[in-house]
Amino acid sequence: MQQKINDTKTVLQPLAVNQITLPNRIVFPAIQTNYANSDGSVSDKLINFYAQIAKGGCGLIFTGSASVSPDSVHSERTMQIHSDKFIPGLEKLFTKITQFGCVPGIQLMHAGRQALRSVTGHDLLAPSAIPCPVHSKLDPTYKVREMTLADIKRVQNNFVAAAVRAAHAGVKVIEIHAAHGYLLNEFLSPYTNHRSDQYGRSTLNRVRIITEILTEIRNKLQQKVAISVRISANEFIEGGLVPENFQDIIPCLENAGMDLLNVSVGTVETVNKVIPNSSLGETPFVDIATKIKNFTKVPVCTVGSIASLKTAAAIISAKKADLVAIGRSQVADPALVNKSLTDDVAKITKCLKCNKCLYWNTGDKDMHCFVNHSVSTK
Ligand SMILES: Cc1cc2nc3c(=O)[nH]c(=O)nc-3n(C[C@H](O)[C@H](O)[C@H](O)COP(=O)(O)O)c2cc1C
Repeated sequence: MQQKINDTKTVLQPLAVNQITLPNRIVFPAIQTNYANSDGSVSDKLINFYAQIAKGGCGLIFTGSASVSPDSVHSERTMQIHSDKFIPGLEKLFTKITQFGCVPGIQLMHAGRQALRSVTGHDLLAPSAIPCPVHSKLDPTYKVREMTLADIKRVQNNFVAAAVRAAHAGVKVIEIHAAHGYLLNEFLSPYTNHRSDQYGRSTLNRVRIITEILTEIRNKLQQKVAISVRISANEFIEGGLVPENFQDIIPCLENAGMDLLNVSVGTVETVNKVIPNSSLGETPFVDIATKIKNFTKVPVCTVGSIASLKTAAAIISAKKADLVAIGRSQVADPALVNKSLTDDVAKITKCLKCNKCLYWNTGDKDMHCFVNHSVSTK
């Protein structure tokens, strides 16, 4: 039988990230639910979903991902943030999360070549005109084009404008999505970036699109928000990014204003690593985060199949990471943190890692959970 955990000192210790104080070390990572309204605005269903997790004791929630531009919208109910009309809904959402003592964050993303033209209605953009082997098979009209310098400037402005909107709505942590094979990850990776200009050719050039975004967000928002960057530290693709590449990348991100590094892995081509099933065990990628921690001064968050507060506490006590993101296990039981601190620990509903939540594979219109039916019905 599970017992309530005793070693809570480290996992419950507040952490200062720039000027934002997180109440504890547990994070809910960005999980696209498709619970937004059909115009991409925040719905009551979305607010209820995050409210349960905030109420359940989580320290920091990354809402989203939210699309920074209309040519990056995944599907009809993706959260969006490319217009001021989204601010009132976001304000309601961040206020609700804050009410429970949890810190509201948002992940900002552009999907790049990992999208469907039939959904976006626009040409897909990428550093180089290399089709995504997965998405290109799903859409006969799939077409990706190399971004011009004007495209790059426009998308950078989209990220900065989105960050300013989120701050206006009361967010405390802004996460730039540079992981999982989406646009900014495509720029970082020698596998997808074959450019010969100032945004390609070398590691320092490949990171430039991100550092320019970070610098501009910092200029505009000063210390009002903390800035997180999510990376895929290992793409698990031949010719793709490996942890050692980040020794050169991370100092650039730090100099440009990064306050927190959220270490994930994989791309849509290696999605079994991004969202691992149970065959990989409970902590398959903590060692990668620990390796990355050696390259940075900022706090590091790890993720991947972590299922209990006890495991999170062990990771933090051993200084393998500073924060632990628990995704699907908090979807399965949004009160995981609080229940773990009481005798209710035995009542935690456990995530089966069945990946029923991957609605794009199951044919569900939005995220469902096999063990927590309330997430998709409220
Ligand atoms: C339904 C679903 C949607 C996801 N959407 C995003 C996303 O929008 N952005 C992101 O960075 N990661 C996304 N992820 C990955 C999660 O943030 C997390 O890294 C992954 O689920 C592994 O953590 P876990 O084992 O604790 O769930 C998604 C995962 C799931 C299950």
